[in-house]
Amino acid sequence: MPDENGTRAVNLPPSNLHVAIIMDGSGRWAEARGLPRVEGHRAGRAAVCRAVEAALATDVRVLTLFTFSTENWGRPEGEVAELMRIFGDFLREDVPYFVLRGVCVTVIGRRDRLPPSLREEIDTIEAVSNGEGQMRLRLAIDYSGRDSILRAANQFHSEGEGSYENFCRILAQTQLDSEPVPDVDLLIRAGGEQRLSNCPLWEIAYAELYFTPCMWPDFDSEDFAAALQEFSKRQRRFGRIPLAAI
Ligand code: IPE
Ligand code: IPE
Ligand code: MG
Repeated sequence: MPDENGTRAVNLPPSNLHVAIIMDGSGRWAEARGLPRVEGHRAGRAAVCRAVEAALATDVRVLTLFTFSTENWGRPEGEVAELMRIFGDFLREDVPYFVLRGVCVTVIGRRDRLPPSLREEIDTIEAVSNGEGQMRLRLAIDYSGRDSILRAANQFHSEGEGSYENFCRILAQTQLDSEPVPDVDLLIRAGGEQRLSNCPLWEIAYAELYFTPCMWPDFDSEDFAAALQEFSKRQRRFGRIPLAAI
């Protein structure tokens, strides 16, 4: 967030960043290789681990990964079932290693439609990773930006307390986040499309957008660094004008 003087409007080195990633392109990656789409999702799991590693090596403090949208339930049953299996495997086999290294994990979105085995994996990992960590990893599963805002708005209305902070608290609560997060600074979308696809819409209100043609399974630490590099060149004004122009 900008400070009172708008000093983030000049190019300061990025610090304490919240980066969000729309991890798209895994299906096309597989199809281009004559493989079933699920092979792309399996390869995408390795790219997730690379992205977490890359973020850990930088000043990123919150990493939000758009993992499965509410609209993704509309895919063939077999693909959805395999995705749910991959999420469970990732939480059970990969994430504990990150938790040991100071990553605090939360899963945001709806839980009630997830397979019970995946819900158990989520409960297990969240139980061991609460508290202050070096980096917060948020996995958005069965997530819809609009649904999230709508649920929060309904709750907000029923509580009848009108502050902005209270809305942010309720939004975190209704999307099952442990606490409100700072706004997204940089939103990366892999896979070549230039759209938002119902990602965390409230949090990206002032995010810098970075679209890359790189398909998600190919995304590596250099791609992550390139996105941060591009971000560091952007001039964020938050509706103001640069200090140098005053
Ligand atoms: C994103 O990759 C992963 C999920 C939506 C779960 P896709 O599966 O959408 O890959 P493309 O866009 O079809 O290539
Ligand atoms: C966005 O990808 C959702 C995730 C990456 C989880 P989609 O493939 O679902 O988005 P559209 O359909 O291209 O907009
Ligand atoms: Mg896609």
